[in-house]
Amino acid sequence: MSDNQLANKSQAWSALFSEPMSDLVKRYTASVGFDQRLWRADIAGSLAHAEMLAAQGILSAEDHAAIQRGLNDIAAEIEAGQFEWKLDLEDVHLNIEARLTERVGIAGKRLHTGRSRNDQVATDVRLWLRGEIDEIAGLLTALQRVLVEKAGEHADVILPGFTHLQVAQPVSFGHHLLAYVEMFARDAERMLDVRKRVNRLPLGAAALAGTSYPLDRERVAATLGMEAVCQNSLDAVSDRDFAIEFSAAASLVMLHISRLSEELILWMSQNFGFITLPDAFCTGSSIMPQKKNPDVPELARGKTGRVVGHLVGLVTLMKGQPLAYNKDNQEDKEPLFDTVDTLKDTLRIFADMLAGLAPKPEAMRAAALRGHATATDLADYLVKKGLPFRDAHEVVAHAVKTATAKGVDLAALSLDELKAFDARVEADVFDVLSLEGSLNARNVLGGTAPAQVRAQVARHRTRLA
Ligand code: ARG
Repeated sequence: MSDNQLANKSQAWSALFSEPMSDLVKRYTASVGFDQRLWRADIAGSLAHAEMLAAQGILSAEDHAAIQRGLNDIAAEIEAGQFEWKLDLEDVHLNIEARLTERVGIAGKRLHTGRSRNDQVATDVRLWLRGEIDEIAGLLTALQRVLVEKAGEHADVILPGFTHLQVAQPVSFGHHLLAYVEMFARDAERMLDVRKRVNRLPLGAAALAGTSYPLDRERVAATLGMEAVCQNSLDAVSDRDFAIEFSAAASLVMLHISRLSEELILWMSQNFGFITLPDAFCTGSSIMPQKKNPDVPELARGKTGRVVGHLVGLVTLMKGQPLAYNKDNQEDKEPLFDTVDTLKDTLRIFADMLAGLAPKPEAMRAAALRGHATATDLADYLVKKGLPFRDAHEVVAHAVKTATAKGVDLAALSLDELKAFDARVEADVFDVLSLEGSLNARNVLGGTAPAQVRAQVARHRTRLA
């Protein structure tokens, strides 16, 4: 076959096939429509492979130089939008290889020595995902910074904390925001842990069994900045657990985003009225002129379903596959790409939106004063005066019942009224019944006292610097 024939023939693999593929089957089996996005990784992998082949004496210096030049030219072509992707050439790998041969002739045909698309694609996906993980980790840091600064600004703003969505105890708004910082910090940690297992090299496994050429796989790994070489060729070409793990980590990020979204949506509703979000992240209604809807958090909550769906898709894709590579694995890409796109957009938009989040302290305070939020503080007060906790709990339950019947908050009962429940109550009880008193009393590591919140803000600032 002449040098240019590979690029021209309608199918890329072999002379064995005598029947042409229908357009439908071509479309069904091809991945170039979506996997072209891996081109940078594909070229980086090929450059590293060729460099090693030359160093091992498998490829002449001349062929290596031609391949290098050709691949760099192709990168420039793709970058400039001048590369013609051909469906007939199935995927990103065959498209680039055919173009290489078109440009540099016979040297291009030598590039695939000791390699298969099976180890090539596994390498490409890993290289690409590694870069995306680094970006995602950066976005998680940016989001945490926004939340930490908000928390610092609003350490003294008090809102009701809920359990069962019933008013439970007052908490600092800063403390509430820092809860999400903890979640996103773990998410970032998880991403970087997944990265270690993503950053391993399949190349050299060839189709499934390794290769008869004296490859130096460690050298390729070092060139590509990979931390290890996959140690079993069958495993190297067939497992996608690194992608599944990443999707699980991404799903957890979205889960945290979704919980935050749910709170933002509740807080923005008229019934809570705890916050405002910048107009740029809300939309109006086409029929109700008064509406301002929290579309961005709602969509993020919705998109969480899609990312979790991709995780389930990938797990299901893998579960029935015998060793080693199967074409099923081509189906790993679209869910993975969409997961990355959704996650990155969501993290970016949340950092911007939360920078404009404004609490309404009056409304928060009024809500905290409505549900006897300091009842536990009264019980603790009685315990400190010698009453066993269970008895104190009972005494306070009676006081709450009375206050509820009167239609006032516990803190609004008079000293005499409170004394009637237990003679140990004195004037200093109002120190603990106030919202501020309740918060300040929780001055324990991880507690909601504004002093603790400020200490945490300082810790996070250092950690994220
Ligand atoms: N496009 C394929 C994929 O995404 C590349 C590997 C194809 N290998 C093969 N033996 N057909 O998985």
